Amino acid sequence: MNGLRRLEGTLRVQGSKNAALPILAAALLTPKSTIHNCPDLSDVAAAIHILEDLGCRCCREGSSVTVTADSCPQSFIADSLMREMRSSVVFLGAMVARCGKARISFPGGCELGPRPIDMHLSGLQKMGVFIRDDGGYLDCRAENGLHGARIALPFPSVGATENIMIAACTAKGTTEIHNAAREPEIGGLADFLNAAGARIRIAPDGTVFIEGVKQLHECEYTVIADRIAAATYLCAAAVSGGRLLLTGADPGHLTACIPLYEQAGCTVHIREDAIELQAPKRLGALPIVRTMPYPGFPTDAQAPFMAMSSLAAGTSVFVENIFENRYKHAGELARMGADIKLEGRVAVVEGTERLHGASVNCTDLRGGAALVVAALAAEGETVVREIRHIERGYEALEKNLSLLGADIRRVAED
Ligand code: UD1
Repeated sequence: MNGLRRLEGTLRVQGSKNAALPILAAALLTPKSTIHNCPDLSDVAAAIHILEDLGCRCCREGSSVTVTADSCPQSFIADSLMREMRSSVVFLGAMVARCGKARISFPGGCELGPRPIDMHLSGLQKMGVFIRDDGGYLDCRAENGLHGARIALPFPSVGATENIMIAACTAKGTTEIHNAAREPEIGGLADFLNAAGARIRIAPDGTVFIEGVKQLHECEYTVIADRIAAATYLCAAAVSGGRLLLTGADPGHLTACIPLYEQAGCTVHIREDAIELQAPKRLGALPIVRTMPYPGFPTDAQAPFMAMSSLAAGTSVFVENIFENRYKHAGELARMGADIKLEGRVAVVEGTERLHGASVNCTDLRGGAALVVAALAAEGETVVREIRHIERGYEALEKNLSLLGADIRRVAED
């Protein structure tokens, strides 16, 4: 990539990865479901691979994926498939609900630090699932079916909320999830399941009530816009000094991010399903940015905003409250001239006027996207390696940026 090109133009935001993945898992409970606006990503391909391995038929036509799960699927996910995508644990609830049993390998640690699944497991146990750790494999059984339960999560975990919601759809009785996650992807999953005949209600305080039904039926559903991809493209436009009209976005899902662009000096216009950002000549520093469960500032947007603040006039401070190890991109940004000091959960970014090109490695999905954002504003050539991380979550990133005026190309490496 060669930096210092102003981005200008219109871009339609992709469907949400984090909404599509649990919906694909939930498709196991329906005889057939057609999922529109399903982004074409390696994580989505991994989820489809798991469904096929379980015995479903999957077919993609453009941005629509049809999953047929009419016969009783397998209940075992091989370790190699579990490793392809760490969030594959979300298949657990769907498999026990559909087959009465499930066997998956224990998902290991990951680039964001250890990612325990204790809340997923204790929720399912309350619903009647017996779980045994069998030499690195989790053996889950609910031969007499699942029953409703009152589950209070100690932390509003997105994945645990989703797993319990899916498992509860066909359980006997009603399940309540207190302190459930409130991310828009939870609402998306509820809408998909309800379209298939589930009875899920989300109270204004976020409590989820799921009244079990006998079975789900065929459905069609359109995945919500990807709020993190949207935030990333807005950061890209901001660092390039450009102007971007993002269409197909949901501004209501970005209420924690939009004021930060404005704080940095950008002019932001909101329409019903579009966001327009005009960057200032020089970006200003951000106030303290604390990552929080939704509706707070999303941890997934921390890295792209850090890339943006590394070019701001002044000091910005980030506090990462969700994951233990989510600053690996800081070292790579430093190779491009960013001045970032880390202390535990806190990152202090002294803005610099200019970054310079460098050879950098993606450390994880959002960290990788942050390197691309920084490279757009760096003098000279940047080579971003290990882009398989980026491909997990951004559809056609280089094509989209290039259409907006960036000098970026993908080169195959041996
Ligand atoms: C999801 C998103 C991810 C996002 C995260 C937080 C998907 C596919 N991924 O991940 O992009 O960064 O939400 O918004 O949707 N935890 C436990 N025990 C558990 C479960 C979680 O201790 O049983 C901890 C985690 O280690 C982490 C925190 O809770 O520190 C939040 O995790 P969670 O909300 O579950 O995130 P994911 O669902 O993994």
